[in-house]
Order: sequence, then C-alpha cells, then structure tokens
Amino acid sequence: MSSKRLPWVIKYRPKRLADIVNQDKAKKLATEWIEEWIAGKPKFKAALFYGPPGSGKTSLVEALARELNLEILEMNASDYRRASDIERIARTAAGQRGLFSKGKVILLDEVDGISRVADKGALEAILDLIEMTRNPIVMTANDPWNPGLRPLREKSLMVPFRRLTKTNVKQVLRRICAAERLVCSDDAISYIAEKAEGDLRSAINDLQAVAEGYGKLRPC
Ligand SMILES: Nc1ncnc2c1ncn2[C@@H]1O[C@H](COP(=O)(O)OP(=O)(O)OP(=O)(O)O)[C@@H](O)[C@H]1O
Ligand SMILES: [Mg+2]
Repeated sequence: MSSKRLPWVIKYRPKRLADIVNQDKAKKLATEWIEEWIAGKPKFKAALFYGPPGSGKTSLVEALARELNLEILEMNASDYRRASDIERIARTAAGQRGLFSKGKVILLDEVDGISRVADKGALEAILDLIEMTRNPIVMTANDPWNPGLRPLREKSLMVPFRRLTKTNVKQVLRRICAAERLVCSDDAISYIAEKAEGDLRSAINDLQAVAEGYGKLRPC
C-alpha cells in the first residue's frame, strides 16, 4: 500500500495514552482497572467503554495494550452472531497464561450490535466469558443504555468517553496537517471540525479526502 493510500485514521492512530486527547477520566479509570488486573485483584472482570463514535474508545484499548505489552484478542459485531465464536474466544481467555506468552486483553468491540442481532445466545456466551476469564475484557458501545445490555452493564466497570470538542478536533487536524506538510487554512479546518460533531474519525477522513482531492501541490 502506498503511503498516500494509507488511511490517515490508521496512520495517525494514537500510539500511546498521551496521544489520546480529552479523555482523562476514561484513561484514569481504564489504567487503574488494568493495574488491578495485573495485581490479580480486579473488582470488575470487564469494563464497558462507552460514548460517541470517533471519541477514542478503541484507540484507548490499543494504546493501553501497547504500553503494557498486552496482546489484543478482538471480536466485533459480526462475530456475535455465533455463540460458538464467542466460546472459542472464551476458551483462550480462560486458559492459563503460558510461560512465554504475552498477557492478553479481550476486546469485544461494539457490543451494542448484539441487541440488533437479537441473539440471546451471544449475550449469554459473553456473560459466561466474563465469569470464567483470566484476562481483562473490554467491551465498547456507543449506546450502552439499551435494556438488552443491562446484564453486561451490571458486570462491568462503566467507563464514559466524552464527545470531543471542536477545539479538540481542530487540534488533531492541525497536527496531521503539519505532519503531512500541508498548509491547511483555518477556515478549512474549522469547516471540517464543525461538520464532524466530535467524531474525530470522520474529521480525519474528510481532511484526507480534501487533501488528496487537491493534491499536495495545492494544499487545502
Ligand atoms: N480522543 C482521541 N484522541 C486522539 N485521536 C482520536 C481520539 N478519538 C479518536 N481519535 C482518532 O479517530 C480514529 C477513530 O477513533 P476510535 O476508533 O478510537 O473511535 P471509537 O471511539 O472507537 O469510535 P466507534 O464508536 O465508532 O468505534 C482513531 O484512529 C484516531 O485517529
Ligand atoms: Mg471503536
């Protein structure tokens, strides 16, 4: 893949916790919780990261894993259709850690997809997984208040993510413009940030589309 084609949301994915903007509370809650796990005494076996799209939920799991040298075992919405897939993950999650293997964090991304799939089996399989796991489980959701997700909420440390402000979004867009050596006008940055309504993924995608549309010789 040429670097031009590499999506900027991937290229500029936060590498460390410090790269994640405006989510200090979530970072603190998540770090303390993982440290409890590492110390062997977690109050909650699972955490539910929730909040608007593009606010840093998946990024925080990735940054934490990198900083603590944990491997991520990931499932997402389409896998929840089959309880057998969850059980497969569960076996790995429940297994003893090998002498030379890395610690793991289990990521169940976008669990609010479960209720739409109307799969009771999947929900039960996840609850079993939470019971038996020897590794921390992070679930993510945009809307965790769906009544169907109540059993998961009761078992989880709830970690709220804020909607990013326009200022946060502009700050990240400017950083990317500088890294790409693009001269980006304040108007263009403001326009993209306004339109994104706090969703940094969509803002970064828009910035890339504009920049590539004009080409590097005619920056946005
Ligand atoms: N708080 C943040 N700080 C820095 N970059 C961020 C932040 N939130 C999102 N991003 C950027 O937006 C992209 C998407 O973020 P991420 O996947 O973490 O969002 P999410 O909250 O998991 O969204 P969704 O609910 O849609 O899954 C990341 O690759 C990153 O570049
Ligand atoms: Mg996500």
